[in-house]
Amino acid sequence: MDFKLTEEHEMIRQAARDFAKTELLPGVIERDTKQEFPKEQIKKLGELGFMGMMASPEYGGGGMDTVSYVLAMEELSKVDASASVVVSVNNSLVCWGLDTFGSPEQKEKYLTKLTTGEAIGAFCLSEPEAGSDATSQRTTAIDKGDHYVLNGTKNWITNGNSADFYLVVAHTDKEKKHRGINAFIVEKSWDGFEVGPKEDKMGIRGSDTHTLNFNDVKVPKENRIGEDGFGFKFAMKTLSGGRIGIAAQALGIASGAYELAKEYAKTRKTFGTEIMNHQAIAFKLADMHTEIEAARHLIMKAAWMKDNGMNYDLESAMAKLHASRTAMNVTTEAVQVHGGNGYVKEYHVERLMRDAKITQIYEGTSEIQKIVISRSVLKD
Ligand code: CAA
Ligand code: FAD
Repeated sequence: MDFKLTEEHEMIRQAARDFAKTELLPGVIERDTKQEFPKEQIKKLGELGFMGMMASPEYGGGGMDTVSYVLAMEELSKVDASASVVVSVNNSLVCWGLDTFGSPEQKEKYLTKLTTGEAIGAFCLSEPEAGSDATSQRTTAIDKGDHYVLNGTKNWITNGNSADFYLVVAHTDKEKKHRGINAFIVEKSWDGFEVGPKEDKMGIRGSDTHTLNFNDVKVPKENRIGEDGFGFKFAMKTLSGGRIGIAAQALGIASGAYELAKEYAKTRKTFGTEIMNHQAIAFKLADMHTEIEAARHLIMKAAWMKDNGMNYDLESAMAKLHASRTAMNVTTEAVQVHGGNGYVKEYHVERLMRDAKITQIYEGTSEIQKIVISRSVLKD
């Protein structure tokens, strides 16, 4: 067993850390307040190779492993979870999904732009009546020979307005239930595609979350991903890897808050001494550190299993469940360590606490992760 990172891993982590400090930190509070998408920052992340880290170099990707991706996600999320969710959706849902299951033509046409930051992707599974219950898709795609006609509504879509290409899941044959579901690549400019209003959110306010409407959108047959009926499995397999990315986001939010709390505890004095010398505060820091390290181990194991061609459905669900719980616990305690200062924007921890909550909801709620975990551990 080897817990050491390679030199390349260390370099990637340092590059992401530097980027977060110099490019994301300035303006992060303002972007959160104004709900401003980090457009320039995402463009630069694309130029630096952070938008298609694991995708094949043949299509402009970095050809890196999942461990590298997790390290980058943690560092970016320590500072700006709104930017890191854009990175996460583009890398682990859109690029990975296309790279793994797309046709050579689809990769040439779409993936090459998504890996370089020339285009941004979105992943559209959720609907008003199909969130956790993802097989209950109401969006339909009717087969018309050389094309499908897509109708329906998707909600909560990250990068909803900023994306150029959308992976959209729809029913092509309701009789067949989840085996009659397909996934398609849809371009923003196509007739009948409409972006609804932006959600006014508690956290990750810099990311743009929208409802999308599809009214008789003509989708060429060559834009279906995989064999007929592969759409639900496509979504599940893609989300399994995506959950490692969101777990890493939660880890970053937690470790960002922990580092701030530790520094504050070393300098703030009450009753004649630094607050770290009060055992109640020191114990909070001990608990935070322990929870964070446990989350890191679960995430790294899931990433390592993915990189080694093993089934990681159980491990990615456990990693997301634990890391998102850790993010909530640690950020809440980090606000407490800061006292009154923790409650104001300037000290960052209140934003991290608001950002943490979403990691227990998207890419499968904590209850859904428990369904995946319990089914897996009970099946034998
Ligand atoms: N890999 C491959 N196939 C899988 C799979 C996996 N990990 N998980 C399920 N399947 C297959 C099953 O084998 C089954 O197919 P067969 O009958 O052909 O064998 C089919 O999918 C249906 O499986 P289930 O019977 O288990 O389906 P279910 O209705 O009980 O639901 C669920 C399972 C795990 C709860 C699933 O619906 C789910 O994951 N829900 C949560 C949805 C979700 O995570 N949404 C996230 C949206 S994207 C997002 O949120 C992005 C963002 O914020 C940034
Ligand atoms: P529901 O499914 O209605 O769940 C409500 C509650 O009931 C939850 O606590 C849930 O855990 C619980 N519950 C439901 N079923 C069960 C059960 N069987 N057992 C126990 N408990 C259960 N989706 C996308 O497709 N693409 C995106 O890019 C995307 N980005 C998002 C960004 C944001 C900011 C948000 C808020 C959501 C995003 N989502 C996205 C949607 C997200 O994946 C869903 O919100 C999530 O899967 C939960 O679905 P729901 O909101 O319909 O809740």
